[in-house]
Amino acid sequence: MSSLVEKLEGALAEALTELADTTTVDAAEDIRIKYLGRKGFLPAAMKEMGALSAEERPEVGKIANRVKTALTDAIDGRLNDLRSQDLDGEPIDVTAPGRRVAVGHKHPLSTVIDECVEIFRRLGFVVAQGPELEDEYHNFDALNTPADHPSRDQQDTLFLFDGRLLRTQTSTVQIRVMEQQEPPVRIVAPGRCYRRDTPDQTHSMTFHQIEGLYVDKNVSLADLKGTLHAFAMELFGKDVKYRLRPHFFPFTEPSLELDVWYTGGGTPRWLEIAGAGMVDPNVLKAVGYDPEIYTGFAFGMGIERMAMIRYQIPDIRMFYENDVRFLKQF
Ligand code: DAH
Repeated sequence: MSSLVEKLEGALAEALTELADTTTVDAAEDIRIKYLGRKGFLPAAMKEMGALSAEERPEVGKIANRVKTALTDAIDGRLNDLRSQDLDGEPIDVTAPGRRVAVGHKHPLSTVIDECVEIFRRLGFVVAQGPELEDEYHNFDALNTPADHPSRDQQDTLFLFDGRLLRTQTSTVQIRVMEQQEPPVRIVAPGRCYRRDTPDQTHSMTFHQIEGLYVDKNVSLADLKGTLHAFAMELFGKDVKYRLRPHFFPFTEPSLELDVWYTGGGTPRWLEIAGAGMVDPNVLKAVGYDPEIYTGFAFGMGIERMAMIRYQIPDIRMFYENDVRFLKQF
């Protein structure tokens, strides 16, 4: 009996020493195999117990179990220690809270589009959409802008080889909607536009607009002014500083522009954010509406410009760089 007990105790002591010297997980696993594995020390010792007398067996069995537990605990403990150390031997704090997974942000342009749509939805407008790839008819002709019209050069247009073009304005959607339905019409159409502009602080080759169109009997300029006023107060707050300025657009008569005071970059100044006006009778005629019965107002707002004012953004190009340090702020 005593020889087997000595063997067990000796093996435990030996294993503990070996464990203390291990520096790798693999080495600790080898020790487990050596002592606890199927062909290892402990199963062999258990077999030897068969040769003991009936009195000795329970005593030695107890000791064997204690040694087994001690070995298992020591090996598991050592493995845990080794696993929680990285290659440089730096301990890893397994109790440290996990790192937060980076969640995306809504792009500031999407936020402004959503807010505009929501404001106009409350004013009774529904959302309409049209294609970005357009034809000259919807982008120009139907909008009272014939081929020899000067404003057709001013809007430097990106043409495809087949004569189609990337829409320069969301006003195209006015025509597409009116072609499809009879008055009353009250829609807003947010979307992307393209122009051959040279990029600078306030210009980009691609940008977003939200178009609005309201056609019914007795729609007046006062309705347009009221709508723009309500919109400006909702989007920029009650203290918004804005002005309406006479202007010219081929598809409206009279026409005006909406400026909002901008303090987000350089010297504070007026920034033009929208064109608007009373729908020109020629536009109504182009879609088969009777201008003697119906009148309407329309507007087209620049989403980027509104976002620049709203969030004090100094340069329009920041919207497209997708620098996370910029995007994270919204
Ligand atoms: N389409 C014009 C532009 O891109 C903006 C505009 C002006 C839209 C007057 C309108 C409008 O609907 O009535 O510059």
